[in-house]
Amino acid sequence: MDPKQKILNILDQTDRVVSGEMLSSELGISRVAIWKHIKGLVRSGIPIAASPKGYLLTRDPDSLLSLEFDSRQDRIHSFPEIPSTMDAAMRLARKGCPDFTVVVAERQTHGRGRMQRTWLSTDGGLYFTVVVRPDIPMLQAGLVNLAAAIDMAALLRTMYQVDACLKWPNDILVNQHKICGILSQMEAEGEQVSHMNIGVGLNVNNSPEKEEPTAISLKTLLSRFVPRREILVAFLDVFEKRISTFDPHVVIDQWKAGNVTLGQKVRVLTVKDMLEGTAVDVDTHGGLVLQLDDGTRQTVVYGDCFHW
Ligand code: BTN
Repeated sequence: MDPKQKILNILDQTDRVVSGEMLSSELGISRVAIWKHIKGLVRSGIPIAASPKGYLLTRDPDSLLSLEFDSRQDRIHSFPEIPSTMDAAMRLARKGCPDFTVVVAERQTHGRGRMQRTWLSTDGGLYFTVVVRPDIPMLQAGLVNLAAAIDMAALLRTMYQVDACLKWPNDILVNQHKICGILSQMEAEGEQVSHMNIGVGLNVNNSPEKEEPTAISLKTLLSRFVPRREILVAFLDVFEKRISTFDPHVVIDQWKAGNVTLGQKVRVLTVKDMLEGTAVDVDTHGGLVLQLDDGTRQTVVYGDCFHW
């Protein structure tokens, strides 16, 4: 094992300061060599405090560094800044990374939203993409997106008691303000999904309200700082169970139970069209069924939905 990883494992097992002498005898290298490795770890962003007594791994509950994710750490790719977690996740997915590989970043310089929009990705938000390899036909891929929104909204309600609601297809609103957006990309082999990359942008300790008046963050809602790691871990735990026991009927039922779109007059912008009508249902693939003014029904599978 790499000496840096050995040092980290030792520091990770205790809340106390570990002396240079102890590390040096455990690894069988000099204290100077230990010091050099520690400097390397600190340079790569790992929060180790050094004092005359030794070294202490500082535990910041907001830290998104991979070593903070215990048994998941090998599958978490953490970046201080990246153009978009979607691109990095796509590269990893194409190289065959394992199921539930996650790319997470403190900031994105080219964060992407749905319909080619930009996703504001300043410090304090939670920006990640998870690569999943569900054993489902391509036609059900839209339901995986709905499921991600259902699981994130449920978690926000249980952990923070906020009234998180679902807006078709997979926005999460609180008090009619957007707190979370989800973007997904999929690749298939024949009719079967080979991987889906689910990108989640959650407003946690950032303040998007100035640039996006219709947005809101958890910090604003709760008037306190919220550590992001507990959210990511809780989401991955429930979403992993969800994918391994994927049931389309359960997804549709749960989405219907938590949504604020059905029954509303809506305008839906698709890539090349605009439709207005009343949202009356979601079909078995997660498409939104609209009742148009002339009484006919039309289903939209992808688009942006505005409630009137
Ligand atoms: C939307 O338009 O509502 C979807 C927003 C999705 C944003 C997330 S942030 C993490 C991931 N990386 C991106 O570039 N976009 C998604």
